[in-house]
Amino acid sequence: MRQSLVVGNWKMNGSIQSNQSLLDNFKQNIKKVQNAQVSVCAPFVYLQQISELLKGTVIAWGAQDISNQKPGAFTGEVAGSMLVDFNCQYVIIGHSERRNLYGESDELVAEKFAMAQSVKLIPILCVGELLEQREAGETENVVKRQLDAIINLQGVASLANSVIAYEPVWAIGTGKTATPQQAQNVHTFIRSLIAKKEAGIAKQLQILYGGSVKANNAVELFAMPDIDGGLIGGASLKADEFLTICQAAR
Ligand code: PGA
Repeated sequence: MRQSLVVGNWKMNGSIQSNQSLLDNFKQNIKKVQNAQVSVCAPFVYLQQISELLKGTVIAWGAQDISNQKPGAFTGEVAGSMLVDFNCQYVIIGHSERRNLYGESDELVAEKFAMAQSVKLIPILCVGELLEQREAGETENVVKRQLDAIINLQGVASLANSVIAYEPVWAIGTGKTATPQQAQNVHTFIRSLIAKKEAGIAKQLQILYGGSVKANNAVELFAMPDIDGGLIGGASLKADEFLTICQAAR
C-alpha cells in the first residue's frame, strides 16, 4: 500500500510575514489531514524560517532545486549538504520551469537527482510534456526520455528512494487540469515502464500529479489508482485550499 503524499511548491513566492501566517494557519489544522504525508518546498532563503516553524510537526519541508555540484566555487548555487543543514527531507528536481526557462537538460537533472540522493534527500523528480508534444502524440516518448536519463545515470534501483511528479507543462499554472483519466494513463505508463525493469520498485513508487490541482478537482484526481497525491503550486499558497487538497488524499 502506497502512502499518499501532497507537496506544496511555493515557487518564487512568499515573504517572512506571509510564510508565518500561512504556516501558522496550516499547522492549526493539520490534524484534519488523515491520509497523507505533507511537505512544503520553499525558496532557499526561507528554509531557516520554515524549519523553525515546522520543527516538531508532522509537516516535512524541502527545497525547489539543488546544485549538481559539491560545495565549492559555484557562485549562486546551493549545495545538497546546505539543504540537509536545514533538515530538508525533499527536493524538487527538474521542474518544468527549470527545464524550460533555465535550460536544464535531462543530463543535468539526472546529476541533480544523484546529488540529492548522495546527501540522503528524497528527490521529487518532475516529468511531463509540452502542449505541442502532447498534440503530436509524443507524451510517452518525452516522459520515457526524462526517466531514462535518471535510470541510465543512477540505475533503476535509485528510484526506490524517490518520488515522481507527472506534471503536464500545459496544465501548470494555466487553470487547465489534465482530466483524471489523462493523468491516470500517464501514471500507468510510468509505473509499467519501471515495472518492466523492477516490479517491486514500481509498485512502491509514489507518483504525484501536478498541474492546476485545486480544492475542487483534487478528490477526483486522487481517486485514480495510480495517482498517489499531488505537487501543488498556486493552491499551496492558501492555507484553507491546501488543507482541503491534503484532505482529499486517499
Ligand atoms: P500549479 O503548479 O498547481 O500552480 O499549476 C504546479 C507545479 O508547477 O508544481
